[in-house]
Amino acid sequence: MYAIGLVLVLVATINAGKHDQYSGYSVHGVKLRDDSDKVFITELTDSLDLDVWQDGVAGARDALVMLDPNSRLAVLDELDARGIQHYLHLRDVAQAFETHDEQINQWKQSRSGRLVPFNDYPRYAEVDAYLETIAAQYPELVTLVNAGQSYEGRDIKYLKISTTNFTDTSKPIYFMDAMIHAREWVTTPTALFSIHRLVEDLRDQDRDLLEDIDWIILPITNPDGYEFSHDDTRLWRRTRSINLEVSDTCFGVDGNRNFDVNWNTTGVSQDPCSQTYPGTSAFSEPETRILRDIFDEYIDRMEIFMNIHSHGNWVLYGFGNETLPPNAIHLHLVGAAMGAAMDAMKLPEADWYKVGNSAMILYGTSGSAQDYGQLVGVPLSYTLELPSYGFDFRVPPEYIEHINRETWEGIAVTARLARTTFRARQ
Ligand SMILES: *[C@@H]1O[C@H](CO)[C@@H](O)[C@H](O)[C@H]1NC(C)=O
Ligand SMILES: *[C@@H]1O[C@H](CO)[C@@H](O)[C@H](O)[C@H]1NC(C)=O
Ligand SMILES: *[C@@H]1O[C@H](CO)[C@@H](O)[C@H](O)[C@H]1NC(C)=O
Repeated sequence: MYAIGLVLVLVATINAGKHDQYSGYSVHGVKLRDDSDKVFITELTDSLDLDVWQDGVAGARDALVMLDPNSRLAVLDELDARGIQHYLHLRDVAQAFETHDEQINQWKQSRSGRLVPFNDYPRYAEVDAYLETIAAQYPELVTLVNAGQSYEGRDIKYLKISTTNFTDTSKPIYFMDAMIHAREWVTTPTALFSIHRLVEDLRDQDRDLLEDIDWIILPITNPDGYEFSHDDTRLWRRTRSINLEVSDTCFGVDGNRNFDVNWNTTGVSQDPCSQTYPGTSAFSEPETRILRDIFDEYIDRMEIFMNIHSHGNWVLYGFGNETLPPNAIHLHLVGAAMGAAMDAMKLPEADWYKVGNSAMILYGTSGSAQDYGQLVGVPLSYTLELPSYGFDFRVPPEYIEHINRETWEGIAVTARLARTTFRARQ
């Protein structure tokens, strides 16, 4: 009996899919007609703690909402009762992620020997090794900084790239970070590619970017969440901090709601299980404190900040409460130049970039990195949402190379404009 039981357990283990927790889950596109539909959807998804894969914008972009098998019919009935149109975007989330894993495996195999971390979905250890290697190979140009540890004790590292070792105060600093939201896997490659293009593969036409600007590039802000999204829960977005007084089942907070700017006001949920839970206080998370300290240390010369996310083709600026910063016209101009540079290279299947105040064109937020950067004095502080070509968090690896090149063009344009605005302020 025991032997048979053991065999059955083994078989079950082998057959168990990696993404079984999403078995039977589906994702639905929801068409919003106006702002009251938007409010309705927000209240519905908040009250049921549904995972919104993509926020909708009336008349412009459908919301994508994940539904579990138990509540699916009730939710769709509510939409029908209100006359809101919806459609099936993904029939089976578990199956969709199995397929994506398979695509990634095939990509790795087909590229073996030629695989570089910026053309792949690299794990934390691979990114770490890349940063260490670059710093060791280019000591005159690159300084590796270990900025501190994540909640679970992973080192959070960034590179400083400078032809003058950050000593020339006439240069602006460009700060970019990626992967504050763990499931947005395609963000880290773009940060790594920027390192590659500045250090390993500097082109003549980009020499001014290296010589005139100091760069701070942090490819994985939330390493705990990122590793957890690989090992356990593919759709993990938040940090991994445990606070048993708040919840003994739901861990972590939304890092991009945890900064000390209008904290715990707009676009947050009090439910510790929600994807937009802002934490027990601003900067409760070591990961957001590390970004805070980088702003603090370099604010005198930091002209531009790019907080990289996926997905949606947006270049967004503050504030998340709909109040525009005093330099909003310039923020818009530089953001639009970035969007246009990326659109000039867009694939036919990609959306056009949209540029604007994050609350006016997308949704209200508080405690975001974008707003914190703006508040503490970075003149050009942005959220960038990369393209997904309709694949949401499952961007096929074949697209990474294109996203990297296209995004680099956008970054280059913003860097040159930031150089100009910085000089004008001197
Ligand atoms: C850059 O400056 C730091 C001190 O800020 C120093 O420790 C480091 O050795 C310098 N690196 C180079 C390449 O000169
Ligand atoms: C966040 O705001 C809500 C609503 O104002 C309030 O009830 C809650 O106590 C606040 N949370 C914390 C941790 O301060
Ligand atoms: C929105 O947030 C900014 C930054 O904190 C603040 O300066 C502004 O007064 C806020 N606007 C409103 C209407 O509260």
